[in-house]
Amino acid sequence: MVGPKSELEAKFRARYPAAPAPRFFRAPGRINLIGDHTDYNDGLVMPMAIESACFVGVADNGLGRFRVFSEDVQEGVEFGIDDLESAKPRHNWTDYIIGVAAELRQFGIPLKGRDMLIESTIPIGAGLSSSAALEVASTLAMLAGVRMEPLEVVKLCQRAENNFVGVPCGIMDQFTSVFGRAGVAIKLDCRTLQYEPVPLPRNVAIVAVNSMVKHELGTSVYRERVNECKAVLTAIQEKFPSVSSLRDVTPDMLADVNWVPVKRARHVVSENLRVMAFANACRAGNIQSMGVYFTQSHRSLQNEFEVSCPEVDFLVDTALIQNGCFGARLTGGGFGGCTVNLLAREAVPDFRTRIREAYQYSYGIDPQVLLCEPGNGASMLA
Ligand code: GLA
Repeated sequence: MVGPKSELEAKFRARYPAAPAPRFFRAPGRINLIGDHTDYNDGLVMPMAIESACFVGVADNGLGRFRVFSEDVQEGVEFGIDDLESAKPRHNWTDYIIGVAAELRQFGIPLKGRDMLIESTIPIGAGLSSSAALEVASTLAMLAGVRMEPLEVVKLCQRAENNFVGVPCGIMDQFTSVFGRAGVAIKLDCRTLQYEPVPLPRNVAIVAVNSMVKHELGTSVYRERVNECKAVLTAIQEKFPSVSSLRDVTPDMLADVNWVPVKRARHVVSENLRVMAFANACRAGNIQSMGVYFTQSHRSLQNEFEVSCPEVDFLVDTALIQNGCFGARLTGGGFGGCTVNLLAREAVPDFRTRIREAYQYSYGIDPQVLLCEPGNGASMLA
């Protein structure tokens, strides 16, 4: 766990004793309440930033090179600004950092040699956007001083992930890490990038349960789903030329199609409708309905989009039979990671005990259970 800023500063000083006074930036992780695998289809999502975050300390080193150390993996990387054009991915954490540096250079930002120290409180690879937070925090650290519009930061980080890391992700994670706001979830239209804050009902708690598994095939299936969505879109466009993305597709358009990827489209189309219905239920304080949409979303991801796995299904099914649990679903890309659970506040302590016992009994794994409060987006630490 990252302590107060002074602790991070002490670590920075110890690692880079000759550096001038560092600045510190923070970018949060996110939990998606509803709307998964819709963002890269121009659809709707409703995530919130969480308090867990990635922190970066940074100072100029005058060397024309970046020297970056991660406290989390206890490993460092060094690269010259002039080497960025020919940089190749290494398929580890450094790709996020080199990727954003390359995009900043491409964008025409004059980069300076910097020493950076990174430490994160976001569980890595748990579907809570530890990588988007790392991209955003690193971008702010590399910019330090140069102004860039927040939406440009979001897009640049997404490009780094698409182009350098090689994951064709949508914009949700980076957007939430930048635009999150305390006390509210964000209903984002990924086509127009317009968003509305949606306050959560007071007596509701959002709890993440980390399955502690991340199946290897996650990234390749993600890519496969992106391609299947494109394929089904092309087929629909032959019949309905005015359709420009799955966002324009209505349930009737899908009625007569029965080849495989249509299931993927059925998920996307129904998930967009659920995001709207969920946001309305949230505003009306109708927790029962919010829970129903949660669980429907999970079933759709499980059976139509097919991105769940036995561990996550077990956590959802176990959650749904607990007192005070209104709904549960996988959150993020799938194939492991976290479930998100909608609970009555007073039910949280018992829920925590029961879900841990059940998962330990069936899978021999102690899941991490995190109470999530909606937090603010990225910032410089005062
Ligand atoms: C990952 C991606 C996001 C989004 C989700 C699924 O988190 O980074 O862009 O596609 O999966 O909703």
